Amino acid sequence: MKLAILSRAPGSYSTKRLRAAALDRGHNVKVLDTLRFGIDLSSDLPDLQYRGRQLSDYDAILPRIGNSITYFGTAVVRQFEQMDVYTPNTANGIGNSRDKLRCFQILSRHNIGMPATTFVRDRADVIPAIERVGGAPVVIKLLEGTQGIGVILAPSLKVAEAIIETLQSTRQNVLIQRFVKESKGRDIRALVVGDRVVAAMRRTAKGDEFRSNVHRGGSVEAVRLDEAYERTAVRAAQIMGLKVAGVDMLEGNHGPLVMEVNSSPGLEGIETATKLDVAGAIVDYIDNQVAFPQIDVRERLSVSTGYGVAELVVHSDAKLVGTTIGESGLLERDILVLTLHRGIKVMPNPKVSQVLEAEDRMLCFGKLEEMRSMIPARPKRRPRVRKLPKHPVPES
Ligand SMILES: Nc1ncnc2c1ncn2[C@@H]1O[C@H](COP(=O)(O)OP(=O)(O)O)[C@@H](O)[C@H]1O
Ligand SMILES: [Mg+2]
Repeated sequence: MKLAILSRAPGSYSTKRLRAAALDRGHNVKVLDTLRFGIDLSSDLPDLQYRGRQLSDYDAILPRIGNSITYFGTAVVRQFEQMDVYTPNTANGIGNSRDKLRCFQILSRHNIGMPATTFVRDRADVIPAIERVGGAPVVIKLLEGTQGIGVILAPSLKVAEAIIETLQSTRQNVLIQRFVKESKGRDIRALVVGDRVVAAMRRTAKGDEFRSNVHRGGSVEAVRLDEAYERTAVRAAQIMGLKVAGVDMLEGNHGPLVMEVNSSPGLEGIETATKLDVAGAIVDYIDNQVAFPQIDVRERLSVSTGYGVAELVVHSDAKLVGTTIGESGLLERDILVLTLHRGIKVMPNPKVSQVLEAEDRMLCFGKLEEMRSMIPARPKRRPRVRKLPKHPVPES
């Protein structure tokens, strides 16, 4: 394949390793400077210039978009998507993961463990927010910090309040997050490629530092993840829309708590710690997927007016329970079942002979008017205590 690595750092460990892995496998690979693209919307079809000239044809790109160029970088990736060039990480996925709040908002409905987090703006709401996540000591985070910069552990309510007020007065938005004491100075980085974890390490902070970032002096060691960690990492990456991701998890008393999903994970620490060929795994994955450019299904399907995608639920009292998809009458109503979700199990392209059970969720494509009556009522808001058995605040 012909692969472009979008990177501003051709000399960095990660870029060099990815390029070498691609060359080793006989691919044609170029490292292109993300900021030298020109997005061209002047002709009939979406196009790209590079260094002022029309870009040649590529089969795939691997975006390595730094934090400082998110807007332009994701615009370039989006343009490649419009041109049907395969990318493991979409512009949307990169944008979602860039902002810690956005990342948590998206993950929060999917039953993925994460540290209790709140986001407030008004001064009067700060103390109740801190109390809601378990009180002091509490973690305060800038929305777009990296390398541990902008992550503060406030020992008391008073200090937390003062820090938040100071940051807000300089127009910085901050998250308030429960301090996961049992994982102090320790976290797990899982490198997800496609639907598996290809390498994982534990990072341990230096001295009494609570942040385990390597840039803060943390050390790394290879770990074997148990199934809960592996499944959480893969699901978090998938939900974010990323096929190549570094998923950071705290080790909570009741299992993994996702802290962050990185769309351009560094390879040096993890390859050194695990002695695994992560770059090779990434290149092989892309090579396997090249034929499948990312398609925004909703966008494409909504072009057929009156049709769309919806998730329908088989109510326990409904006539559908116990019938097959064929007998259900869905097909006659012009509703096609694309996938059937049962608990954590997913059945793609279910057969007409598939029997439906109560609480099955069906992702369907069909006439919106027909599906309207079958869309489940919005779930009642759960009482706040529900989170507690999952991630209890340890008694201090
Ligand atoms: N809620 C928390 N409880 C305990 N430790 C935390 C918490 N949040 C962050 N940390 C520590 O701080 C480090 C940096 O936090 P993170 O959210 O990953 O920010 P960054 O993007 O700057 O790496 C983490 O790797 C972890 O060691
Ligand atoms: Mg981090």
